Amino acid sequence: MNPLAAELNEDIARCNPHTLEMLSELGHSLYFPKGILSQSAEAKEKAHRFNATIGIATEAGGPMHLTCFQEKLSAFAPKDLYPYAPPAGKPELRKLWQEKMLAENPTLAKKTLSNPVVTNALTHGLSIVADLFMEAGDHVLLPDMMWGNYTLTFVVRRGAVIKKYNTFTPAGGFDIDAFRKQLLITASEKGKAVVLLNFPNNPSGYSPTPAEVEAIRGTILEVAETGCNVVAVTDDAYFGLFYDDASLKESSFGHLAGMHPRVLAVKLDGATKEEFVWGFRVGFITFADGTGAGSEPLLKALEKKTMGIIRGTISNCPHPSQTFVINALQHPDFPAQKQQKFELLKRRANRVKEVLDSGRYDDAWSYYPFNSGYFMCLKLKRVEAERLRVHLLDQYGVGTISSGTNDLRIAFSCIEAEDIEALFDLIHQAATDLA
Ligand SMILES: Cc1ncc(COP(=O)(O)O)c(C=O)c1O
Repeated sequence: MNPLAAELNEDIARCNPHTLEMLSELGHSLYFPKGILSQSAEAKEKAHRFNATIGIATEAGGPMHLTCFQEKLSAFAPKDLYPYAPPAGKPELRKLWQEKMLAENPTLAKKTLSNPVVTNALTHGLSIVADLFMEAGDHVLLPDMMWGNYTLTFVVRRGAVIKKYNTFTPAGGFDIDAFRKQLLITASEKGKAVVLLNFPNNPSGYSPTPAEVEAIRGTILEVAETGCNVVAVTDDAYFGLFYDDASLKESSFGHLAGMHPRVLAVKLDGATKEEFVWGFRVGFITFADGTGAGSEPLLKALEKKTMGIIRGTISNCPHPSQTFVINALQHPDFPAQKQQKFELLKRRANRVKEVLDSGRYDDAWSYYPFNSGYFMCLKLKRVEAERLRVHLLDQYGVGTISSGTNDLRIAFSCIEAEDIEALFDLIHQAATDLA
């Protein structure tokens, strides 16, 4: 093992040996090399005559660039667009995101957290989690209503096994008993579990109540106390889009951070869905160790290992989009503009509920609980989702997603409020054709 990796592992073990146990073999081996990047960083500080270190080209004291790029991007300085961004992301962006996270999640105020490390959006954050913490055969707990891409990231890439539990109780709440049952099985079979919580959920559009989050926390604590290590990951892709009064308005990360030495909390979030910049690819990964105060060296070591996997895969994340997000987060109109889009999406969610609650479609479907995010799901009564999806597309020109045998996912995020009734009328017509 590289001595730098061994040093990081010692830092982790000194703070919390359970966290070291959670790392995959790859996670154990990772380190951030003192190679070109750290020599360049040193030179940036001290090389006042000539800096002949880093692999970009310079001219007239700035990065070399072509006018055809700069004439379109002239609102931004070339230094904030063209050079490589640091492997952990632009420091200003990391600081701004941390401030935003603390402001929006008051529960985090008393917690010990790593600095957020910039990722190439959430999918990349998920793959970092898989690389750091998943070994072939490890169990990842997910509700049966889950984002399908987890399979590629965890199962295909890393050989982990997704263990699904039932998502909702018949009364329409988070099925805590199903979650507990699966977690206890995994704990006894493996002594380690990766729990992935995705709220607002894709595909259902559900976010839990504070009591449900407390029950999830209690269950994780229960298995940690039996000696099981838990990596508790929150996929907060749709954070902030909470439309009703009942759901928790914070990430469950705050409730999982620092709860028990055997529970490492990992938060994945980003600008993708929250700030409506899907193609920018700006996300973050943040760690909170179960030991809380005093775990700073461990958190630094996890940041370094994360930088190592970034350096070894994509080298660093795009610079222009980090600059664009910094600009937005500092823009005086950012809160008002974001609120306006939130209200628009909330109006659509409420309109969907109103239309569905008219009773006109009750012969064809019921619907799963939804109160947040971009989506909702119909629970079809008479026809399978894939058949309906194809028929809708071929006969009516309507695109939907079949997300389960009888589940049809509707992204109300891309349907104008005034078109929602017409959309469900067409889906109903198509379902009637096939019934
Ligand atoms: C639950 C969930 N997580 C993560 C992602 C991926 O986000 P990103 O585009 O930031 O990689 C998505 C995108 O659809 C998602 O629905």
